[in-house]
Amino acid sequence: MSDFTFGSLPHKDLTSIAQLSTAEVGLIFDTAAELKKNRRQHDALLKGRKLAMIFEKDSLRTRFTFDVGMQDLGGHAVFMDHRDARIGARESIRDVAKNLERWVDVVVARTFKHRVVTDLAESCSIPVINGLSDYLHPCQALSDFFTLHEKWGGQVAGRKIVYVGDGNNTCHSLVHTAAKLGAHITVCTPEGYEPNSKVVNEAMREAVSTGSEVVIVSDPHKAVEGADAIYTDVWASMGQEDEVEERNAIFLDYQVDEELMALANPDAFFMHCLPAHRGAEVTAGVMDGPQSVVFDIAENRLHVQKAILVLLLNK
Ligand code: CP
Ligand code: NVA
Repeated sequence: MSDFTFGSLPHKDLTSIAQLSTAEVGLIFDTAAELKKNRRQHDALLKGRKLAMIFEKDSLRTRFTFDVGMQDLGGHAVFMDHRDARIGARESIRDVAKNLERWVDVVVARTFKHRVVTDLAESCSIPVINGLSDYLHPCQALSDFFTLHEKWGGQVAGRKIVYVGDGNNTCHSLVHTAAKLGAHITVCTPEGYEPNSKVVNEAMREAVSTGSEVVIVSDPHKAVEGADAIYTDVWASMGQEDEVEERNAIFLDYQVDEELMALANPDAFFMHCLPAHRGAEVTAGVMDGPQSVVFDIAENRLHVQKAILVLLLNK
């Protein structure tokens, strides 16, 4: 029987990686590692606790892993499908929050506007977790880096991760986390699709103390030289469906294919948050090839989010 002592995070919510310290990210990783190693031994940690999942967008991984994660820990999840109407349309976000806090212990929100997640968090007395907004995807980035932390024996600092594609929500949280952990992050996008300057500035400030290098470039062939991991995501995110054709043309040279992978270090990993489009942002050969760790990342969503739930609720 494991004698691991579970700690807690000193924050009410998890809406952005920017709010976490490097040590707190380490605490999440240590907790996730324990929950992964001894998955069946912690089935009463959140006994009787209830999670509300309130989603404006589709989801496979986030929805399943939070639901299964609560079940693993002895708790229960309730899914609220908000795809037909944005949160705050039928009644104010504050009123939604004031209701939810009377029934459940924690909320995961997946939204279009990031402001909806932060408004929910500010209005609720219970923890609110960002399950993806148009701006950030913190649970994803923590799972991405937890996977690298496992693969590299805890030595993430000083490694080079190259994100190729759209400077979107996934990219933003990846940049935040890299800077937090002292990893070097190069973001390579077509002109006009760079990551948000606020995120880049936050990461660059953080990088001064962690030794991370944050670089924004546009040439994928140069960008991936010396890369220890190459990451990509869809070219059109949820909500940008009407831009698919235009983006497919603009991002054509940013496909992660075998030729691009060959320019990185020979043991470089291929990473993707999923869902992926084989033949668009990644070739089938890379996605399903030996360097791909995409399903390890997907598995780790479960362990990392269980850690987040425990650390936010263990007060
Ligand atoms: N990566 C991710 O968040 O997947 P879903 O959109 O399926 O939840
Ligand atoms: N950038 C993608 C991530 C999906 C997990 C989107 O927002 O649709």
